[in-house]
Amino acid sequence: MATLVDPSRTDPRLEEERRRSHYALRRRTLERMRSKSTDLDAEPMRIDPAIYTDPAYAERERRALFHDLPIVAGLSRDIPAPGDMMLFDVLGPPILLVRAKSGEVNAFLNICPHRGAKVVTECSRRTRLTCRFHAWTFDLEGKLIGQPGSEGFQGIDRADLGLMPVPVAERYGLIFVCATPGGQIDIDAHLGDFATELAHLELDKAEPIRRSEISCDANWKYALDTYGESYHFASLHPTTIGQLAYSNIMVYDNYGLHARLAFPRAEFMDYSDRPEAEWPHTDYGGLYMLFPNMVINVNSIPGVGQFYGVSRIFPGDTPDTSRTLLSTYQPAHSGTEVDVGKWADMHDFIQKVITEEDYSVSRDGQANLRWAPPGFRTVLGRNEIALQHWHRNLNRLMAGRN
Ligand code: FES
Ligand SMILES: [Fe+2]
Repeated sequence: MATLVDPSRTDPRLEEERRRSHYALRRRTLERMRSKSTDLDAEPMRIDPAIYTDPAYAERERRALFHDLPIVAGLSRDIPAPGDMMLFDVLGPPILLVRAKSGEVNAFLNICPHRGAKVVTECSRRTRLTCRFHAWTFDLEGKLIGQPGSEGFQGIDRADLGLMPVPVAERYGLIFVCATPGGQIDIDAHLGDFATELAHLELDKAEPIRRSEISCDANWKYALDTYGESYHFASLHPTTIGQLAYSNIMVYDNYGLHARLAFPRAEFMDYSDRPEAEWPHTDYGGLYMLFPNMVINVNSIPGVGQFYGVSRIFPGDTPDTSRTLLSTYQPAHSGTEVDVGKWADMHDFIQKVITEEDYSVSRDGQANLRWAPPGFRTVLGRNEIALQHWHRNLNRLMAGRN
């Protein structure tokens, strides 16, 4: 099966900047590989296990991170055309995202203003939205345009019976929502300098290939923490990731709330002594960690092209459960007429590694933390620099929250 991805849609300026950024990252990674060293934080950091187990903390954290911050609901091409829609319920409030005729994305609570039924239960491309309970009908802007038996509702202004909007913003190919109706989204403030790096990826042109959901009996942070270091590659992933990348070497860039890190892939050494002009173009770009819960793995299918492996990790109903939305995209610059099955296979491989290796440790560790003696603290080493950075951001945002 051939894809319809057209590389002519890629932007040559962004392509050039992306290459410059990714080559600089690779150059630094190669230096670390040669010297067998890694970027380090100033000192080890202690973590109170209560942040993984305490229900009161989890509730405060849900509000501080998942209701107040912009959270990525999907990528632009998940709903590419007017009338396309997406349900996004993992934050708690049921959110419905719809691409309007104008091309803008609207987001609403998926709660019917009549008696609260779900307005959309299954997604398809539509010009209007009809609630299945009593057939109230809304346009793609959320306006009530059809109301059978409308005489029964005389005295209520129709304008007050539209779908309830939630803040939404689409930037750099990412669709952000804020789960608090009436809340604010300031994407520029949220992303800061990280926006430049995200723009390079041309995520707005990335084609969705496969998605899945992974449930894990561990706090969402215990799941997320497995992404941000390579210290465990050789020990936990001896036959999978450990074969592809070196252990305990990381290059790290801090972007305020966000970060980018790179782990050395073994094949870098195959061409490390060749001029950079001969390096593979669509190879490795590192891990983009978008606070609080998203990781974009910019990586290669050797000899085929680049893929974007996106993980978004959400709290479950209790502190010891989480849900991961895993999705794989084919960047527009990964060529045409290639078998998308390779991207789907990569998705399945990543899902297997996460489920059987990373999250199996998260699950066991989470169960252990319930029994940690008073005063016990876990420790992040100087080599776990990205995790330290992430946890300092968490502590800062949670300070004073009650
Ligand atoms: S609850 Fe939706 S039309 Fe009645
Ligand atoms: Fe891992």
